Amino acid sequence: MKTLIYDLKNEENINEVLAQASYVINSGGLVVFPTETVYGLGANALDNEAVKKIFIAKNRPNDNPLIVHISSFDMMEDLVKNVSEDARKLMEAFFPGPLTLIMEKTEKIPMNVSNGLDTVGIRMPSDKHANMFIESCGCPIAAPSANISKRPSITNKEYLIEELSGKVDIILCDEDSKIGLESTVLDVSHGNLKLLRPGKISVEDIEHITGKKVSGFDKEDVLLPKSPGMKYEHYAPKTKVVVIDGNEFDIVDFLCKISNEKKVGILGLTTLINKIDSGKISAISFGDNVNMASKHLYSYLRQMDKLNLDIIYVQKMSTKGIGLAFMNRLMKASKGDITIV
Ligand code: TXA
Ligand code: MG
Repeated sequence: MKTLIYDLKNEENINEVLAQASYVINSGGLVVFPTETVYGLGANALDNEAVKKIFIAKNRPNDNPLIVHISSFDMMEDLVKNVSEDARKLMEAFFPGPLTLIMEKTEKIPMNVSNGLDTVGIRMPSDKHANMFIESCGCPIAAPSANISKRPSITNKEYLIEELSGKVDIILCDEDSKIGLESTVLDVSHGNLKLLRPGKISVEDIEHITGKKVSGFDKEDVLLPKSPGMKYEHYAPKTKVVVIDGNEFDIVDFLCKISNEKKVGILGLTTLINKIDSGKISAISFGDNVNMASKHLYSYLRQMDKLNLDIIYVQKMSTKGIGLAFMNRLMKASKGDITIV
């Protein structure tokens, strides 16, 4: 398949490009588009056959349901039913933004979107170009993260083109994704208030708005090595990933020793990376804080993957705020492998 690639960052006639993307979507095709979390691989959510193509392009197991993206509340009206008071409050507070709400679906949602469940995930992205794209399509867009299944999600142009050229009709590139980790997924169906995936919108944010306790996701569990959730390979580069925890000086000593036997890389905060002066260690700094680490995690894992290393070490972060999402993805990428020095 020939893939048309546009860069919205440098595009003079965005409306023309979006009209073309809309034509492709309304003809049952696939368009990769930017969002504030990660890039999405979209199809018309109301077209069962178009949605099927997403699973083929990504090599995604077809029992994994998709999120439906909207650009206005009107678009959602006949897709969901029995919307709870909590859901309404959360939409008012966080839509548009990096939050997906799982709600009871209507019969308008086709089989391939929800795969047998009686619910559907709804998200309204805040990214300006995402919103313009969905708006111009005039239909809800079903989209998983735009990556081959099990691989890290994609947050920049270079890896989009590398991984998805030839697999979709159009790729709409843009600036790097601002948040860098996928949306918070919260089940608000059937009286639930249950966190299914942590993200930028934190448990504290949700509890503040609803005045209720969020269930379903034990913060401590995220850090448990080899817990049952780790059985799924996810977010993983080809190179082995290991989480490294400890005092920064001890981490540097450990890396210096192990780099005599193995080719290793380290991803960490600037304070750690600045302490490394051995040329044998491939080191990349995330920047100063966990927000920057989240923004860069996937692209730096992919970058390190090209260096033919034996192990990529990634510094453990605190689980506060978006740190919980960062550690959730990192523990999956490393399959729970953690070294404490
Ligand atoms: O930030 C994001 O959410 C990105 C961008 C593109 O919007 N999308 C994304 O989609 O991460 P995906 O398919 O890679 O992850 C969606 C997650 C999956 O873990 C899926 O199982 C879950 O949401 N999910 C979707 N619909 C669901 C449902 N009805 N019930 C429970 N989980 C659901
Ligand atoms: Mg994904």
